[in-house]
This record gives sequence, C-alpha cells and structure tokens, in this order.
Amino acid sequence: MSLAIYPGSFDPPTLGHLDVVERASRLFDHLVVAVGVNSSKSSMLTCDARVRALEQCVAPWPNVSVDSFSGLLIDYALAREAGIIVRGLRATSDFDYEFQMAMVNRRLSEQVDTVFLMTRWEYSYLSSSIVREVAQLGGNYSEMVPPPVRKPIADALRARSGY
Ligand code: PNS
Repeated sequence: MSLAIYPGSFDPPTLGHLDVVERASRLFDHLVVAVGVNSSKSSMLTCDARVRALEQCVAPWPNVSVDSFSGLLIDYALAREAGIIVRGLRATSDFDYEFQMAMVNRRLSEQVDTVFLMTRWEYSYLSSSIVREVAQLGGNYSEMVPPPVRKPIADALRARSGY
C-alpha cells in the first residue's frame, strides 16, 4: 500500500492546499495531511483548530486522514512508514525552498521521496500568508479558503481583537 504524507503549516488551509489533497488522493492509496507544529513560530490558528478544519475538508475522500507532528518531518514519515512526501508547487518562486527541503529530507533518509504536484492555475497566487494578511486587515478571505476554515479564522480574529 502506498502511504504518502502531505505536510505543511496549513495556517490556515487554503483552496490551493485542498486542490493538492484532491490530486494526491488519486495517486496514493492513503494520504495523511500532517500539520507541522512549530512551537517557536506564532500562528493564527491553533494546531487543534487546523486539524479539526482539515478533517472536515477531507471528509469527502475516504483515503485521506489528518494528523499533526512536531520535530523532524522525516522522522514522522519514517515512524508512519510512509514512502512519499507530497508538496505543492505554485510557481518557480517556490522551487528554491522546496528543493532545499527535499534535498535535506533525502539526506536524512533515502527511504522517503518527495513528490511535487503543480497547483491549479486559479490557485497559483494563493498562500496561507496572503490569506492571513487579507483576514487580519479586514478583507474578504472567504473565497480563498474551504468553507470549514472560515469560522476558525473568524474566531481567531475575534479572539485577537478581544470581542
Ligand atoms: O506549509 P509550510 O510552512 O511550507 O510547511 C513547512 C513544513 C511544516 C513542511 C516544514 O517546516 C517542516 O518539514 N517542518 C518540520 C521540521 C523539519 O523536518 N525540518 C527539516 C526539513 S527542511
């Protein structure tokens, strides 16, 4: 059985992420969307909120599940006995960072390969950081994220503003 991990910060998950999930779900027997927890980085959504929202987003695909991990991605992939890491590529500007990450992960273990999937044209401008900025500045982010992600963002903004 081919098991692939789709890791990311997913802060917040976007329609572009979901597009990659859909593509990967057709390529592998099982896909684990894995939220990477970095305690030294401040985030808009808590890890729990990200996991819960992603669980609702991936509900249509029976071969997709959601998990979280801390520490090295490669250790997580090996512990889950996954042979593949999936990452989405939007534009050539993503390439340097992604190439470096794939190389480091391969250096750490030859047992796991990284596979890149090109995102859909209409999501090529989308990123979690753009959604965060639009949301924090009061813009309309609802068309940029899957419906289950809208409320957690609104809740996080409300909690931050104290209302
Ligand atoms: O969505 P992101 O922010 O690009 O996801 C990055 C993530 C979580 C996949 C990456 O930061 C990661 O793998 N973190 C775990 C720590 C690690 O393994 N670092 C070495 C790989 S370069």
